[in-house]
Amino acid sequence: RNEPLVLGFETSCDETGVGLVRGQTLLADALATSMAEHERFGGVVPEIASRAHLEAMVPTVHRALAEAGVQASDVDAVAVTAGPGLTGALLVGLAAAKAYALALDKPLYGVNHLAAHVAVDELQHGRLAEPSMALLVSGGHSSLLLVPDLAREVRSMGRTIDDAAGEAFDKVARVLGMPFPGGPPIDRAAREGDPTAIDFPRGLTGPRDAPYDFSFSGLKTAVARWVEARQRAGEPVPVADVAASFQEAVADVLTAKAVRACRDAGIDHLVLGGGVAANSRLRALAEERCAAAGIVLRVPSPRLCTDNGAMVAALGSRLVEAGIPPSAPDVGADSSLP
Ligand code: KG4
Ligand code: ZN
Repeated sequence: RNEPLVLGFETSCDETGVGLVRGQTLLADALATSMAEHERFGGVVPEIASRAHLEAMVPTVHRALAEAGVQASDVDAVAVTAGPGLTGALLVGLAAAKAYALALDKPLYGVNHLAAHVAVDELQHGRLAEPSMALLVSGGHSSLLLVPDLAREVRSMGRTIDDAAGEAFDKVARVLGMPFPGGPPIDRAAREGDPTAIDFPRGLTGPRDAPYDFSFSGLKTAVARWVEARQRAGEPVPVADVAASFQEAVADVLTAKAVRACRDAGIDHLVLGGGVAANSRLRALAEERCAAAGIVLRVPSPRLCTDNGAMVAALGSRLVEAGIPPSAPDVGADSSLP
């Protein structure tokens, strides 16, 4: 009861998320999404996302307060994603968070979206071991993070040099005639397929390649070429086998590099996050390889893996608890916040 109540705002992409967290307890996780409006464009359109955030923002705050059974005046601190993300989208969340912080006369914390993806796991599995390694894979980012201290220090070990993992899922799904976003339909189709049917390339896994960076653009192109060759030859495309083989290539590289990073840094805790962490093969392979390497694996439920406001509130709560000074009241959006 005495722990601070933190209100969190997330608007870095297409999800309008408002969360309420007390200590490490999740009280509310209200979400609105403009995904349906982007579907026909095959990707998130920034201008549409910004306008949708603006319309959804206040109703989503009200839903979160009702869900938690609290009043706005009960809030002790406000946290908001300051970046990375789409600038226009971030600005809507920042404006809302500043307005609430100012009106309630409470401290404001502008936070890093990637660190929030890590923090959300604490709502489900309790305090994170420090140091931990984190593998964050979504439509916007693919990163390996070293987390010595979630409130004070999160270091980037590696990242994608081209497409994010989720982007590769979305593009391959398009080639296979599946809807956007492509992760879930590929995951489903792959269940009926043979993951060893086609040997798709594993990007950046050569001996001279950066050990913790990722590349998915070559894989995406390889799948597209393979499918086109089949179509040109007038042969049917074995959709399930293509989906399973592609998914295997992604899961293989991600888990191999995450486990290697843990081993090299002497870290025995790995946490997954981001929308792609909902992938069934990635989860299974991560479990298998972590178990073999003696690494404790933590994976939040799919709902908490994708963008939401609770993750921002969770990180805000950590910052309050650690006594970190609040952000300046004019904290701005940083689309490429490191
Ligand atoms: O974290 P998220 O909701 O939003 C971003 O910050 O991008 O991630 C969305 C991404 C999409 O690319 C979507 O295709 C992917 O996560 N995704 C999946 C699965 N569910 C969602 N990818 C693979 N397998 C899934 N089951
Ligand atoms: Zn995200």
